[in-house]
Order: sequence, then C-alpha cells, then structure tokens
Amino acid sequence: MAITVIACSQQFAAEVGDIDLRRPLAAEDLAAVREAFRTYAVLVFPGQDLTVEQHMAFGANFGPLEKTVRAVFHGEKLRVRPEIADIANLDGNGKIWGTDSRFRQFQMGNRLWHTDSSFKAPSAYASLLYARSVAPIGGHTQYADMRAAYDALPQAMKDRLDGSFAEHSLMFSRARLGFDNFTEEERRAFQPTVRPLMRTLDDSARRSLYIASHIGHIRGMPDEDAQALVADLIAHSTQPQFVYTHRWRVGDLVMWDNRCTMHRGTEFEDTRWKRDMHRVTTSDRLDVFDIAQCALRTEAASAEY
Ligand code: OGA
Ligand code: MN
Repeated sequence: MAITVIACSQQFAAEVGDIDLRRPLAAEDLAAVREAFRTYAVLVFPGQDLTVEQHMAFGANFGPLEKTVRAVFHGEKLRVRPEIADIANLDGNGKIWGTDSRFRQFQMGNRLWHTDSSFKAPSAYASLLYARSVAPIGGHTQYADMRAAYDALPQAMKDRLDGSFAEHSLMFSRARLGFDNFTEEERRAFQPTVRPLMRTLDDSARRSLYIASHIGHIRGMPDEDAQALVADLIAHSTQPQFVYTHRWRVGDLVMWDNRCTMHRGTEFEDTRWKRDMHRVTTSDRLDVFDIAQCALRTEAASAEY
C-alpha cells in the first residue's frame, strides 16, 4: 500500500501515514515523502517505534547528519551519540534537571522562535525530532511558515529585505534570555554566520523569510533598528494563520525544513515532568556564504555544537 499524506493545515503541515520508518523505504515511498516535504515544510509521522539507528538511517535520506564531537555539552556529559541532539530536560545521568543546570539555561533558547543551526556553516536543512517521553501538559512545538509569511509581506518590505544580510549566533539568542557566561571555547565556536534575510528555495523556487532569534545584527543597520525589524518580522510571521502547533504523543516523529520555517517549544513544568526527545539534523548544501565563512574560521569549532 502506498503512503498517505493528509494535510493538517493548508500547504504547511501534513501527517504521513501507512509508513514504517524502521525499515529502509521503497523508492516510490521515499519519493512520495520528498515530494510531500517540498509542498509541506512540516511532516508528522505518528506512532513510530524507532531505535537510534533507525532514526538516523531515515534522517540520512535528507543529507549528511550534523554531529557533536564533544563529550561534555554545556557542563553535562553527553547522554546520546554525536549524531543526536539531546532535546530532553535530563542531566547526564538521565535525571530531570534542576533550575541551576547550565544545560537548562542553554536549552531555554528553544523557547524562542528560531530555525536550527542558522549559526553554523553549513546551516541545517531537515530536523527530525522524535518523542520518547512527553509531558502530560504543555511542551508542544509550534512551527511558523516563513514562505507564506514572506508572500504576505507588503512589497516595500520585500524590497527592503532583498539583499540584506543578518549575523546569526547562538550567543545572540541566549543573550536575549540574559545568559552570557560563555567560555572562551564557546565564544570561538559561536562566531556569527552571515545569512540573507530572504532566500529562494532551490527545489520549489518559492521565496522565504530566513530569520531567527539567533540574529544579533543586520549588516549596515544600527542595532536598535535591526532588533526592531527582527521583532516586527517575527511578530508578523508567527500570526495564527502561519502557525501549526504540534501536541506530542510518544512515538511521533516530526520533520521540518529549516530553510523556510521557524519553531519554538512551549512552556511546561520542566523540573517536574520528564520530556525526552531526540533530534537528528541534516546539513543544507554549502552556499557561497558558508564557503567564505569556513575559509575565515581558524577552527571549524561550530560543527561541534
Ligand atoms: C528543536 C527544538 C523545541 C521543542 O528540537 O530543535 O527547538 O519543542 N525543539 O523541544
Ligand atoms: Mn530548534
């Protein structure tokens, strides 16, 4: 039986059924998933039961997997292998973190609207987040359609964004939360990347806003103007008509296109309920900005985070 794709919202999020991600997909099913992923930037695969290896193998259909090469991540030893981003509220021993956890302070940045790895070179294409345990209340993930948000902008704003470039760093999004005690090593790893504010997607030719809470500066613009512009654009693109909210169940895998979406986690009692999620992330193609950025960096450290 062929896979089924049922829209959850118009042209933005869809649920994919009649598919078992534990096994390599038949060529026609993979082609159907790719086609759905071009149309819908968020795909939900409910009721999966994946090992880490199966999760990674499905992700690898969409590009090379990002890796963390550090054994210790923001003061916690890694619970997971380097190809997995640990999106859980657990410490290195698998216990629910406390409010004093440095890892928690860092992960709080996921509550701000962002797109994954815009601060890395190359940035991310697909993120695939898999729920192992979920909170009974809250802890949803919201997604914003940056293609529809771009299309809805007044022409004067589109013209203003065309040819404008922003600097993205994990330090900028964390600074919004008052967190700035980065180590020297982290400061080196989080040197900003330069990204266009508007991008054209090579597979659909659609245009998309490319913004995130990771933006600290816009080239050639005073910082107060830049911050006000980013705030306006985030407010515009997260209006209800552009947003899909995913309420997690254990076994859900949600995959999104970081080139043309933003997302954020919603609040929950994170020192009470265990919420254990694994993310596999694939790299986007290198663009001219990445090549320049890689050449400028003395250490390719950002790939480690
Ligand atoms: C992520 C992320 C938010 C959440 O996995 O990249 O930002 O709801 N997650 O956990
Ligand atoms: Mn994220």
